[in-house]
This record gives sequence, C-alpha cells and structure tokens, in this order.
Amino acid sequence: MARVFVTGSSDGLGRMAASLLVERGHAVVLHARHEARGRDALAAVPGAEAVLTGDLSSLAQTRALAERANALGTFDAVIHNAAIGYRERQRLLTVDGLSHVFAVNTLAPFVLTALMHQPGRLVYVSSELHRRGDASLLDLNWEQRPWRGNQAYSDTKLHDVLLAFAVARRWPAVRCNAMEPGWVATKMSPRATGDLDAAHRTQVWLATDDDPAATGTGGYFYHLRPKPPSGATRDPERQDRLLAECERLSGVRLPDA
Ligand SMILES: NC(=O)c1ccc[n+]([C@@H]2O[C@H](COP(=O)([O-])OP(=O)(O)OC[C@H]3O[C@@H](n4cnc5c(N)ncnc54)[C@H](OP(=O)(O)O)[C@@H]3O)[C@@H](O)[C@H]2O)c1
Repeated sequence: MARVFVTGSSDGLGRMAASLLVERGHAVVLHARHEARGRDALAAVPGAEAVLTGDLSSLAQTRALAERANALGTFDAVIHNAAIGYRERQRLLTVDGLSHVFAVNTLAPFVLTALMHQPGRLVYVSSELHRRGDASLLDLNWEQRPWRGNQAYSDTKLHDVLLAFAVARRWPAVRCNAMEPGWVATKMSPRATGDLDAAHRTQVWLATDDDPAATGTGGYFYHLRPKPPSGATRDPERQDRLLAECERLSGVRLPDA
C-alpha cells in the first residue's frame, strides 16, 4: 500500500481522490489552505492519516508546507491537484507580488516539487484547457497583458504539463506524469457536464497502480489512457525555460536529480 500526499484535498477532485485512496487501503496525507479547512478535510475523509496546512498563494507558506511534509518522511506519491479556476475576474496580487493564479497553479507545485523529498511518483493535474495556454511563456505574471481569467488559468495548466515533463527528464528515477480529469462539476466549474465519477480516478491510478500503463514517466493521460498533450509541452527548451522562470520568481532551485 502506498502513502500519498494530495494537495488541495479539502474539496473537489482532491478530496474525491483522497477518499478513493483511503477506500483502497492507502495512507493519505491531506492538504488544506488553513486550519479550519484542514478540519473540514479531515471530517470529509475519515481514515486519512493527517492534514497539513498552507496557503499556496504564499511562497513562505508553501516552503513551510514542504518542510512539514518532509517531517512526515518520504511519500510514495504526491498528487499536485490544488488550483484556482478559470473564472477569476481580476488579477490579484499575492503577498509576494505575483499573479494569484500563477502563484497557486504553477509556482506552488514547482516549489513543493523542488523542496519535498523526492517521492516515487509525481502526478500533476492539468486540464484540456492547457491546449489554449500561451506557449511563449512571456509575461507569466500578467504584468503586460490585460487580465483574462480563462487565459491565465489555461496558461498555468500548460505550465503544469511542462513542469511534469521537465521533472520527468531531470529525475529519471521518479515516475512523473500529467493528466486531465475532464470538465466536471466542482466548486471550480459548477455547471460542468462531464463524468464526475471518472474525474478523480486517473490521478489515483497514476499515483498507486502497478498497471504498466500507469508506471511510465513523462506521459499525459485522460481517463486511464494516454492522450496526446499539446505539442508545445514536448519541447525541452520550453520546459527548461519554465523551470528557470520558476526558479527566478520563487528563489527555489530544482535539484538536478
Ligand atoms: N473541475 C473541472 O472541471 C476541472 C477540469 C480540468 C482540470 N481541473 C483541475 O482539477 C484540479 C482540482 O480542481 P477542482 O475542480 O477539484 O477544484 P475545487 O473544487 O475548486 O478544489 C480546488 C482545491 O484547491 C484548493 N486551493 C485553491 N487555492 C488554494 C490555496 N491558495 N492554498 C491551498 N489550497 C488551495 C481548494 O481549497 P478550498 O477548498 O479551501 O478552496 C480546493 O481544495 C485542479 O488542478 C483543476 O485545475 C478541474
């Protein structure tokens, strides 16, 4: 049985994935933005081992979260699930002066990846919308463009795939994949019409299953099957450029291997 850390498991697909993991006998550490949400998460996923808190819009809190996670040991798998959705009406600045969607959806998974003990498997939850992301990687922080929440979200979901593939190249010993859950009704997208019951299963499969299809690295998946990601995500130069920008903006370095 595996020990899995799931970010953003106080609600939505993170909570559903955590519940399924517990149901299947895995040990699960939950994550929530603060203590009150942590209590909600523990109540919603009875059987979870623990909950760790930290607001992913803050670099200091994300670093502290990584430290607390490391104090619990090395995980078999980490599912980078937490995110802000595509309906943000304005660019909000985080305590670090960054665009909040970029900070939570791109920089936080980068920082956690870099600072947590290397797990056996890494799963990055992306979206079909990554295909609409701006592959130029210019203006990651939305200082030059008029704000468009949908575009900001799509950009970060492209980043999540680039991050997964970059880390897969850098850390060959870690099985590192990205996936999309489908458009499903959660707090993020209440009107969605996709198959909610299938939306959390691929991340659980990638995190824990011995199926040879789930144990490769550098793949992109939808509903337990490989799916071609946007061609831009396969460009190593672009992957490295994103890592370099994340390192510059966070002050955190991704270890070589
Ligand atoms: N739903 C869809 O149709 C859909 C489609 C494609 C991809 N996805 C992806 O699936 C993943 C899960 O989305 P979801 O639909 O389950 O969304 P959700 O219901 O809104 O859940 C998002 C989770 O992330 C947490 N979170 C957000 N900002 C945070 C912050 N600053 N610090 C700590 N935690 C934070 C939320 O905490 P709170 O509960 O406290 O807000 C919540 O636990 C995301 O990566 C999303 O991009 C979803």
